[in-house]
Amino acid sequence: MRTIVSLPGDGIGKVVLPESIRLLESAGFKANYVHGDIGWDFWCNEGNALPQRTVDLIAEHKIALFGAITSKAKDAADKELNPDLKGKGFVYFSPIVSLRQKFNLDICVRPCISFKGNPLNFIRRSADGGFEEPMVNTVIFRQNTEGLYAGVEWTNPPKQVRDALETHSKMKFFKDVPSEEMAVSTRIVTKNASERIIRAAFEYAKKFGYSNLTLCEKPNVLRETSGMMFKIAKEISKEYPGISLWDTNIDAQMMWLTKNPEDYGVIVAENMFGDIISDGFAGLIGGLGFACSANIGEEVAVFEPTHGSAPKYEKLNPSIVNPIAMFMSACMMLDHIGEKPVADKIRNAIAEVIEEGKVRTYDMLKLRGGPDVFSKGAATTQQMTDEIIKKLKG
Ligand code: NAI
Ligand code: MG
Repeated sequence: MRTIVSLPGDGIGKVVLPESIRLLESAGFKANYVHGDIGWDFWCNEGNALPQRTVDLIAEHKIALFGAITSKAKDAADKELNPDLKGKGFVYFSPIVSLRQKFNLDICVRPCISFKGNPLNFIRRSADGGFEEPMVNTVIFRQNTEGLYAGVEWTNPPKQVRDALETHSKMKFFKDVPSEEMAVSTRIVTKNASERIIRAAFEYAKKFGYSNLTLCEKPNVLRETSGMMFKIAKEISKEYPGISLWDTNIDAQMMWLTKNPEDYGVIVAENMFGDIISDGFAGLIGGLGFACSANIGEEVAVFEPTHGSAPKYEKLNPSIVNPIAMFMSACMMLDHIGEKPVADKIRNAIAEVIEEGKVRTYDMLKLRGGPDVFSKGAATTQQMTDEIIKKLKG
């Protein structure tokens, strides 16, 4: 039997992850779940939000389901650290960022697919004054490890960096700026990582029947980095004659987001652009309660909802939050490990509950979150899971 590392983390991660395991078991998916410690408590008590024993578990079992973690600013992190550990050089690092780096989880997949009847779906006015509800079916492939988020940056760049930069002719615009008054963030893109993400995106398009793949960059301005990705995409596209390669600029893509979002199939982008587009598309399909994701490396894959730990709601009992983003992330895990029929069964049940519209969490009723949402007709997290389980077929 397969072993899956369960990383509930903090806040609502501790609610939605166990619910997803309950759903997976009801759908007939058999696995051993081993718990991994991760998150804020482990920072406070051990000075490490991602203890080595958790890294070892993931390295051993390769597949993890992750809920969410809480991160806090530097001052708060230092203040909440166990007094015995203070002053001993412990520095807080986000455990999800550490996971992506440790296991080189370079491919981030974020499907944004509308469910029919979801009251949070994007609505567009049509030419005749009526309304249209575009059914979005877009899957964003975001490069997860390099680009603008790689962390190669300086305020007051050291002399060697400044000198190296000065070798570029465009630096003449900045020649009178003292280094102390300068901040530099780099956008490093590599051939290997670009090939990996673009190929993974084409493979996904082929496997799931998408007819177009868009590289969303800005090669007219970012001539080197976007330019390199575009060249690679053109080359790889020759191997996929059934899939049209489109290219869009990030700014124009954000405008087309509301104009014709239903036209886009698979989209590939660098780290920051992928972050931006995937949030934009997630908004069209209902937002954080529906936004699922996968972080995939060569050996290890971690599946997680895009949302965080929602501390505002962590203490509410019963819980009000929408577990669907977590459930859809678990379905991505099933797809990844060759259990697509179970994933389809779960997705169909979710679709049926949403379309029927009888059981809705507070966000789907457009309510402000709080303990009073139940009196206004909202379902609890557990009731949503129960209803989906009832609709499982076969
Ligand atoms: P958040 O995603 O936790 O929550 C923002 C708001 O979105 C919530 O207050 C709630 O209104 C709504 N929301 C989130 N998940 C929902 C769900 N499943 N159902 C219904 N509504 C939902 O982001 P926020 O408040 O900015 O950050 C809270 C903590 O989470 C911070 O410590 C942050 O660092 C961390 N975080 C962790 C992430 C991760 O684990 N990958 C990602 C984003 C934030
Ligand atoms: Mg998350």
